[in-house]
Amino acid sequence: MTSRLKQISSHLFSQNKMSSELWQNVPLAPPDSIFKLTAAYKADTYAKKVNLGVGAYRDDDNKPWVLPVVKKAEQIILNTPALDHEYLPITGLPEFTTAAANLILGSDSRAISETRVTSVQTISGTGANHLGALFLSRFYPWSGNKEIYLSDPTWANHQAIFKNVGITPVNYPYYDPKTIGLDFDGFLSSLKSAPAGSVFLLHACAHNPTGVDPTREQWSTIADAILEKGHYAFFDCAYQGFASGDLDNDAWAIRFFVDKGVNMLVCQSFAKNAGLYGERVGALHIISTSKEAAERVRSQLSVLQRSEISNPPTYGARIVTLILNDPALFDEWKRDIQTMAGRIINMRKQLFKLLTEELHTPGNWDHIVNQIGMFSFTGITPEQSKILTEKYHIYLTANGRISMCGLNSSTIGYFAESLDKVVRGD
Ligand SMILES: Cc1ncc(COP(=O)(O)O)c(C=O)c1O
Repeated sequence: MTSRLKQISSHLFSQNKMSSELWQNVPLAPPDSIFKLTAAYKADTYAKKVNLGVGAYRDDDNKPWVLPVVKKAEQIILNTPALDHEYLPITGLPEFTTAAANLILGSDSRAISETRVTSVQTISGTGANHLGALFLSRFYPWSGNKEIYLSDPTWANHQAIFKNVGITPVNYPYYDPKTIGLDFDGFLSSLKSAPAGSVFLLHACAHNPTGVDPTREQWSTIADAILEKGHYAFFDCAYQGFASGDLDNDAWAIRFFVDKGVNMLVCQSFAKNAGLYGERVGALHIISTSKEAAERVRSQLSVLQRSEISNPPTYGARIVTLILNDPALFDEWKRDIQTMAGRIINMRKQLFKLLTEELHTPGNWDHIVNQIGMFSFTGITPEQSKILTEKYHIYLTANGRISMCGLNSSTIGYFAESLDKVVRGD
């Protein structure tokens, strides 16, 4: 009996030893900063706490919002017993990818009518970025180092996504802290000095994290510089419709670049504009110069996708397809988008008014109304951001970025007053 016990304990001991040694060299990674912020906010018991880190829409009651049009589409799905749970094709639901391409490139797009577009359903915008990056890593005709030019700053995940597939991120100047606006000269000189054929990631609209977008005139100059140097445009579009409230308006830069004949791809997400965050609905569109090239691209994207996710998920793609293909639902969706974009724009106006007309907060706050989309770069220092969190229980990233969605009629006054005090150094 004793020897049996010894046997068991030595067996268990050796197992413990093994597992503790196996991962000994794995360093502890820091938690994701945004998810860490949300956890700290949740743990805070202060009644007036405000979460301005959140990257998802909240209604005026600070609640997630299921779009009414999405609820309708879900009812249709529920009432269609013929729908099964079979696998989708590797490149996704064909009706979805077709409708998604029309939405972002425009149904009158020449690239679409000339069948030069390869569209693949992806795991939301992140998956589209990843698949696009992986494809470039394997097949882009790199002349030197595998590098991607990213705006400084950019969505933090971009760095990791490209590093994961062996592409080194390089920064290009984008945000100018002095003007709290676009460093257009810096951006342009980077386009001009980068080696010919470089890959540039461009935020199609509502730049994350700054909320600073080029004007149409500036986009036109950017396109010329890209064409001149034979660069490749990697468009990331996570906020179509969310920026201005108008789907076509927010896709303007992408369509303009396609018309100009820039070599490019587009990452598309339905997380924000359809409020389908967790359903992971997105697409990657690669625009080629011929139908034949598009077919070859499709064949390779299929191979890559197959080894990674086999085939994409059905549910969210079905919802979006119903909305995009039914004129009445599509109109309703546009109204839902206007509700979300309108609330954000309204928060910008209110915050601006509070800071300027009521509190007379020192400094220029024009950028609050000039910036676009969910996020705003306030221009405050990391130290001031820290004080807002520690003293006033207002949670935001150290770079001073706030999500306008975290503001509502009950929090905006408290936020403006706290920001005013912090700026004054009270
Ligand atoms: C610039 C940008 N790209 C891509 C994404 C990807 O989002 P998702 O994977 O949820 O579609 C986001 C989300 O915040 C983003 O801000």
